[in-house]
Amino acid sequence: MKRIFATTVLSALVMGTALAQELRSPDGNLRLEFSLDGEGTPIYTLQYKGQTVIAPSMMGFELARTRPESSSLHDRFTVASVDTGTFDETWEPVWGEERQIRNHYNEMAVSLRQDPGGREMVIHFRLFDDGLGFRYEFPAQRRFSYFVIQEELTQFAMTGDHTAFWIPGDYDTQEYDYTTSRLSEIRYLSEKEITKQGHASQSPFLPTGVQTALQMKTDEGLYINLHEAALVDFPCLYLELDDQNMVFNANLTPDALGFKGFMQTPCTTPWRTVIVSDDARDILASRITLNLNEPCKIEDTSWIHPIKYMGVWWEMITEMSSWAYTDDFRSVRLELADYETATPNGRHGATTENVKKYIDFASEHGFDAVLVEGWNIGWEDWTGHTKDYVFDFVTPYPDFDLPGIRDYAASKGIEMMMHHETSGSSRNYERHLDAAYRFMKENGYNSVKSGYVGDILPRGEHHYGQWMVNHYLYVVQEAAKHQIMVNAHEAVRPTGLCRTYPNLIGNESARGSEFQAFGGNNPNHTTILQFTRLIGGPMDYTPGLFEMDISKYNPRNTSKVNATLANQLSLYVTMYSPLQMAADLPQTYGKFLDAFQFIKDVAIDWEVSRYVEAEPGEYVTIARKEKGGDRWFAGSTNGNEPRQSVLDFSYLDPGTTYLATVYSDTPETDYRENPQSYEIKRYLVTSASTLKQYCAPAGGYAVSIVPVTEDTPTKGIKRLK
Ligand code: NOJ
Ligand code: CA
Repeated sequence: MKRIFATTVLSALVMGTALAQELRSPDGNLRLEFSLDGEGTPIYTLQYKGQTVIAPSMMGFELARTRPESSSLHDRFTVASVDTGTFDETWEPVWGEERQIRNHYNEMAVSLRQDPGGREMVIHFRLFDDGLGFRYEFPAQRRFSYFVIQEELTQFAMTGDHTAFWIPGDYDTQEYDYTTSRLSEIRYLSEKEITKQGHASQSPFLPTGVQTALQMKTDEGLYINLHEAALVDFPCLYLELDDQNMVFNANLTPDALGFKGFMQTPCTTPWRTVIVSDDARDILASRITLNLNEPCKIEDTSWIHPIKYMGVWWEMITEMSSWAYTDDFRSVRLELADYETATPNGRHGATTENVKKYIDFASEHGFDAVLVEGWNIGWEDWTGHTKDYVFDFVTPYPDFDLPGIRDYAASKGIEMMMHHETSGSSRNYERHLDAAYRFMKENGYNSVKSGYVGDILPRGEHHYGQWMVNHYLYVVQEAAKHQIMVNAHEAVRPTGLCRTYPNLIGNESARGSEFQAFGGNNPNHTTILQFTRLIGGPMDYTPGLFEMDISKYNPRNTSKVNATLANQLSLYVTMYSPLQMAADLPQTYGKFLDAFQFIKDVAIDWEVSRYVEAEPGEYVTIARKEKGGDRWFAGSTNGNEPRQSVLDFSYLDPGTTYLATVYSDTPETDYRENPQSYEIKRYLVTSASTLKQYCAPAGGYAVSIVPVTEDTPTKGIKRLK
């Protein structure tokens, strides 16, 4: 690890562009320039290989409640000093896309002083080969110790009407299909999307607002990705487009009173990130978001591990069965006694008998865990008006024998995964959290899926505001104390915090597979998520749907899964997550055991990853080597157009022959009419081989690549050139 510092103390505190400061990335391709304009406003620009990525853009804040002092924290600055340095380290994540991550950047810290008043603010820039991170620091200072942000004024000025892959600015949900359009079309299309897809009831609507990570492509072929890293004690960042000038203005999630951050010095903001390359694969390979987070704060991480799981879940999502135990009442009941006299509705999913079937199947096929939703009392009124006290997270329904199931699972080598639906009442959750976690540990549960469906309590707070951002992190920190792994749904989208708290093994925070049962996802959805949502951290997307006609499960549900069966297999490789679910029903997998074999085999923790082919919205092909083993797995996920994918094997050990098993679409596969058409072919491959493989729209393929040993039957198997 190296850190070299140089300090320039500027003798005169001069305003104006004359004092432009330049910073270059280690490879020299990125060039950042910082200056103050005539008003003393901080301005930055970013170039990549001589092309402008970010045109001159301002930085700073508008403050609230500052009288008699000025509310402007964006002008009248002078530069007090500039520190530059270089940093280079390699670190090992507890789990991840690769065993070792290099964190290499040049940095510059510009210390600013505002006159009059003397407020101090430092802007930190880190320039990596793959992009830029910058953030604001407010050192401890006597005359500026508490402040309230009215708005962050950071800009990202684009150089043209780029193509963007975006979802609308909604402070409460990210569960949208992505729209691919020119920036200039956002205003018109956003309203259409919000009307079509609906938006969370509490949320104001930002007409030209979009969420991050935002992926763009310029007409010159530059890929630009805007996001944030280390979102801690601060509201989530939105980008509001000034579509006359193609400038994105920061827009922070407001609190219930409309304020955008209560701050106490010393403090920092999250990092704002710009990942940039002329090769889309570099966006997927970028580790900027993780690198800008602090090292792991959990000392003993031996209890944190990747998990492959099944769940009593899809049957509720498709409405074959219910989370609730009874239809008798719709008011808040927290007493078990209320249920003892209630009539079971006959559709409850989390019954002891049903759960045991899942445990049997998961155990037989080598899974780690089984999730059960709807096991605890309260689901009769979980979205009700009085929801402050809906769930207590410790009382099972009368037909769920928790100790019996726990012991049965343990005898079969299966861990039970806890479910905590908070119904958005974070107040209630915090009230019960410690008891709920203790209850989990007493019963052998080491991981929890949590959820925040519905309007947030305290009322008026948004899912992505500062208050809730603090709540989600508090929950993860408390969980770590109990050695519990967390997978939070409907929480704020991740910003790389899993580096610091690797017990945060998953998040949803995007439109997951569940929407395939609520009308379907865009066919190319899983070729965009890698460039957007996954930039911040892994997603519990819950792949593995084999029955695409939901009416087969529930005649009243006419939704269709917009994917082929082979596409579903590819996702285990192309959508990185240490937490992977086989989301469909055991009886369905039972009909396709040959294809299911890939889900059983695929690794969930990786030594290295190779990004073979990528174009947002069109295709993503990735090959990965399992951690602690010699097997490789590859996946290619395809978008709207039929295509031939080319998978090279140059990354394989040159001296070794491997058996490649390819699970793919066929010429007959059609995600609407014939999604279950797939074929399984075997080849002998070496590092010199290349696979050319047809992919249907919304299709793809998955490959397991295993070194050939004396015991491998190779007779009659074709060698791939
Ligand atoms: C929404 C989650 O995304 C889903 O997975 C869960 O089953 C329901 N909420 C109920 O908690
Ligand atoms: Ca959800």
